[in-house]
Amino acid sequence: MHKFVSERAAGIPASSIRKMFNIAQGMEDVVNLGIGEPDFTTPGHIIEESMLGAKAGATHYTHNAGYIELRKLIAKETEELINQFVDPENEVIVTIGAMGALSLSMLAVINPGDEIIVQEPLWSNYVSHCLLAGGQPVTVPVYEDDDFNLKAEEIERKITARTKAILINSPCNPTGAVMSRENLEDIAELVRKYDLLVISDEVYDRIVYDGTKHVSIASLPGMKERTVIINSFSKTYAMTGWRVGYAVVPSEIQKPMVKLQESIVACAPSISQKAAITALQSSREQVQEMINSYDRRRKLLVEGLQQVPGFSCKLPKGTFYLFANIKQLGRSSEEVAMDLLTKARVVTVPGSGFGQAGEGYLRFSFANSEDNIKKAVERIDKFVRQEYGLS
Ligand SMILES: Cc1ncc(COP(=O)(O)O)c(C=O)c1O
Repeated sequence: MHKFVSERAAGIPASSIRKMFNIAQGMEDVVNLGIGEPDFTTPGHIIEESMLGAKAGATHYTHNAGYIELRKLIAKETEELINQFVDPENEVIVTIGAMGALSLSMLAVINPGDEIIVQEPLWSNYVSHCLLAGGQPVTVPVYEDDDFNLKAEEIERKITARTKAILINSPCNPTGAVMSRENLEDIAELVRKYDLLVISDEVYDRIVYDGTKHVSIASLPGMKERTVIINSFSKTYAMTGWRVGYAVVPSEIQKPMVKLQESIVACAPSISQKAAITALQSSREQVQEMINSYDRRRKLLVEGLQQVPGFSCKLPKGTFYLFANIKQLGRSSEEVAMDLLTKARVVTVPGSGFGQAGEGYLRFSFANSEDNIKKAVERIDKFVRQEYGLS
């Protein structure tokens, strides 16, 4: 570690997703199924309206919690989701992506040594945000045999006097699992029993298939006042680069989050907030088209990979990720991902990048064209048969 670098910064684990991308960058003709964002460009009318907003003067700092017009729209949207009143003044904060909402909420609630229970495999940034806030992530493994569902009894075993919150992510990156109402009810019971908070990352709430319904844990009895809902415009509206997200939180937590936001970044970008207003005001037709397209790609990828020797997978219920089982290959996920990259020219993410419980799996993103998905499957199939000698 360099003498000027803090222990805190050095202690944050590096992303294995980035590692794969950095290697892939120097290569030609690579099919990238490692990407964690929509391949679509933001719908044109959202871009245009935000530019008009900028020309009309929306180029200044906004309220630290975001434009009230946007907070009102977010409150309305959340009310429909949880069937309860949401106060746009005191319970909503617009942030720099969901990541902004996650980091501010952790900074607002964690005292040094507080434990946050989270499932594994997990999106690795949860660990970083928790550590940065001085907390201790405590992981609970989830299993393919349970459809990667986080079980209340497994959580209960990990609860200690230091437990502050349970972090849930449904629909889930990387497994694509969507938690059922019954599952959430069991967790909610625990949360009330042990007087805990829930941080509920719902950024993939709209990206669900086969009639699956996303349920927010905040909609369950007595849970709104114990839940930080994290959401974002990134995935639903293909707006990752705009960096705009939000949290819907109990007012006692919103206030410190606004104070923290004021001192760290002031506010989310005004132009992006204008774009978010347009996104929420307009019809969801284009969003639905994108979801239909992910759905076709999802089926194509699953059908394709099921034919590849050593691979097994089921249709994910949500997100644009597939967590494929590669245990039969008898090699580490990192080794397989590296082989696929360097010898088959396909980028995937090793399951171990999502924690030890992810070992034996590869994460595929199907936010890529049908042609590229077909090409990737052909390359993987050929590679596995030729190089690993499987059939
Ligand atoms: C589960 C999860 N939460 C949050 C984010 C970050 O979203 P945003 O772009 O809004 O910061 C991602 C992005 O990949 C994600 O997968």
